[in-house]
Amino acid sequence: MKLIDGKAMATAIKAEIAEEVKQIVANGGKQPHLVAVLVGHDGGSETYVKNKVLACEQCGFKSTLIRYEDNITEVELLACVDKLNKDGDVDGFIVQLPLPKHIDEQKIVEAIDYHKDVDGFHPVNVGRMSIGLPCFISATPLGILTLLQRYHIETSGKKCVILGRSNIVGKPMAQLMMQKHYGDATVTVCHSHSATLKEECREADIIIAAIGRPDFVTADMVKDGAVVIDVGTTRVPDATRKSGFRLNGDVKFDEVAPKCSFITPVPGGVGPMTICSLMKNTLAAGKKEFYK
Ligand code: GUN
Repeated sequence: MKLIDGKAMATAIKAEIAEEVKQIVANGGKQPHLVAVLVGHDGGSETYVKNKVLACEQCGFKSTLIRYEDNITEVELLACVDKLNKDGDVDGFIVQLPLPKHIDEQKIVEAIDYHKDVDGFHPVNVGRMSIGLPCFISATPLGILTLLQRYHIETSGKKCVILGRSNIVGKPMAQLMMQKHYGDATVTVCHSHSATLKEECREADIIIAAIGRPDFVTADMVKDGAVVIDVGTTRVPDATRKSGFRLNGDVKFDEVAPKCSFITPVPGGVGPMTICSLMKNTLAAGKKEFYK
């Protein structure tokens, strides 16, 4: 079994990005600028955004954090998005999700100029991704693809089972794993209503678990030599931790790991790669790589 070290890989890629930014700036170019919009005080969102801002520093980007209380109206948030769309100094921006219930998330996502949509959530980017055109690709699937590529894990012709069908992970992951240019795999998507979920997993060469149910994938669901990618990051109460919780993956790591050829840990697997991919997208936005 080989442990996939997402933390080390993210550190290495951020160093590559920082080097490129240095060159850009030395040649008189502009430092990429990422803006993060954070509404309210959700613990998970606070941590993610803090880590995104830190990653910007590590990459040599300019970053700005815009905070709002959770009583902000939809109209006010749309005005903020509009301002960022028009701000020539801003290369890319994200609105951290989830948003409070009174705000229509999809409306906000669709209001973002897709040229600056470094999350890759806008329907234009989602559509272009699904037909293999240059675009911003959602950070978690992009991070997983990078891990698979850099660990030289063969995906072409393999059976890949994706657990979960979210817009952010499951759906784009399935699209990318099936496409010739990326995964070139035979893809099955399973979800909470899949009658044959366990059987599908047992047949899989690659399992990508993104259902948000701690310890869902057990050893009896995994065939010998499989590659297991764990996207789960559920906060579960843990009195032994200073924070009072720990991050728990979707995979029962201790019993599944011995059966795997490769496996990602939680934390330190997919999570750091997600942030790293957001940095890649921001660099691409600064360079106008996908859209002129
Ligand atoms: N909430 C959970 N993951 C993400 C993400 O990748 N981007 C944004 N904007 N919100 C999230």
